[in-house]
Amino acid sequence: MKNFSNTMENGAAESTKSAANNSIDNPQKNAPLAAKENAPAAQSTNEDRLLEQSGYSARVKSFLLKNLSHRPKAFVHTYGCQQNVSDSEQLKGLLSSMGYEEASSAEDADFVLFNTCAVREHAEDRVWGNIGSLKKLKEQNPRLIIAVCGCMMQQQANADRVRRSFPYVDLVFGTFQRWRLPEFVYKRLLGSARIFVLKEEPNDIIEGAPIRRDGTFKAWVPIMYGCNNFCTYCIVPFVRGRERSREPQHILKEVEDLVADGCREITLLGQNVNSYGKNLQNPMTFAALLRKINEIPGDFRIRFMTSHPRDCTEELLSAMAESEKVCHHLHLPFQSGSSRVLKAMNRHYNREDYLKLIDLARKLMPDITLSSDIIVGFPGETYEDFRETLSLVERVRFSQLFTFIYSPRGGTPAAKLPDPVSRKEKGRWFDELLKAQERISSELNRAAVGKTFEVLCEDEGRREGYIAGRTTHNTVVEFPADRSVIGQFKKVKVTALSSVLEGTLLED
Ligand code: SAH
Ligand code: SF4
Ligand code: F3S
Repeated sequence: MKNFSNTMENGAAESTKSAANNSIDNPQKNAPLAAKENAPAAQSTNEDRLLEQSGYSARVKSFLLKNLSHRPKAFVHTYGCQQNVSDSEQLKGLLSSMGYEEASSAEDADFVLFNTCAVREHAEDRVWGNIGSLKKLKEQNPRLIIAVCGCMMQQQANADRVRRSFPYVDLVFGTFQRWRLPEFVYKRLLGSARIFVLKEEPNDIIEGAPIRRDGTFKAWVPIMYGCNNFCTYCIVPFVRGRERSREPQHILKEVEDLVADGCREITLLGQNVNSYGKNLQNPMTFAALLRKINEIPGDFRIRFMTSHPRDCTEELLSAMAESEKVCHHLHLPFQSGSSRVLKAMNRHYNREDYLKLIDLARKLMPDITLSSDIIVGFPGETYEDFRETLSLVERVRFSQLFTFIYSPRGGTPAAKLPDPVSRKEKGRWFDELLKAQERISSELNRAAVGKTFEVLCEDEGRREGYIAGRTTHNTVVEFPADRSVIGQFKKVKVTALSSVLEGTLLED
């Protein structure tokens, strides 16, 4: 096996010219980067950027070919929400264009990338622990390249902690610069000092970049990035920047291509899809986009997330109701059932507004199922406030809830508020909520027994010989079938409720 540790340690030819370096932090000052390579990328067009990065990809590929005696492998670990999952598919596409195959574990890889999430402390703790455990991998294989990116790294304090405490991490970049991965890898391979790039881009949307999707019949399609809402507890607007929407023609083309390739379910992604299109040159509503996607011929379903109740309009609910490909399931986070807490959260709707929306959704789509996110123990929340959350849950009867105990995020307004209720007490409220939801979910599931649904067959079930499929309502049903049905729509009759809904496949 050839050894290229020399180029890792010492500055290579590329690293000899000094330059004012505003995008690549170079604390070691031993390997400044060439001036032309630090030209501010924001001024370049989409095509310039694509071309520049594909040039770097080709150079990485030939470098690895010359210097490695095996096929290079990359391991990508994704934390956080679907937005990050989608970003990782783009990062994997770039890695693939550099010649990296997918590794099944970090131990098996020449390149390890963690795409991180900052939404709650627990998510961050996991990342820190896992970065720590990469140390011994680097000791075993000094040529291993370790990169950490995503929402956590967009925060200076976290990037600084990596710089200080994890000297074996080679590349750190935030959410705005992920499209430059080939450039970062190339420079590090050629001996640049550790790379730290957090600079915000006014426009980080790159169309036409390579993508390697995790699935074949289900796909994530981002329609917008960032968030303008600044809910007082939330870090997302600080690490993802302001709302920016993709041009509809790019989204439509992507969906058309996916459907032509046999994709059966498209999930449109954004932190707040309901405000899609406001910043486009020719503004367009999310409802209008949904109708246009629905017109694309083919046998496929459309889902979307996440919707904010503030921008959830009758126009959108009608578009859902009238578009036969759009699933009758709405994920509409309400966060708290107390109007007082909602105000403190800066959510811009109250309990009554939310309930009115739910009533309207049910009037337009009587079979619709609903899911939601809830925060328990927001600063200043009392048990009475919490009871209002509980009563809203009882009233709406969500099919699924994602519940979180409030986690203070540095830099957000809520983190400065007095928070007198103990973690233990919040834990008790949380358990009360979970218990209520378990009962509701099982009542709703029991009501499904005897009914027939069209499901998209997704994966093997929990039991041998079973397949798991998902209804338009996002309910999972398991039924005896063989793997050949995976990726197809099938009719299934629900026959029983055990720990999951069980059913039997009906003849076509
Ligand atoms: N943009 C989406 C969700 C973003 S984060 C939306 O607005 O619905 C996903 C969920 O994490 C949020 O809905 C919220 O319930 C939860 N969350 C966000 N910040 C949190 C915090 N500081 N503590 C606890 N939960 C939080
Ligand atoms: Fe965070 Fe609120 Fe934006 Fe969702 S809408 S990402 S909760 S600020
Ligand atoms: Fe986490 Fe970033 Fe998503 S903070 S929830 S990965 S947008």
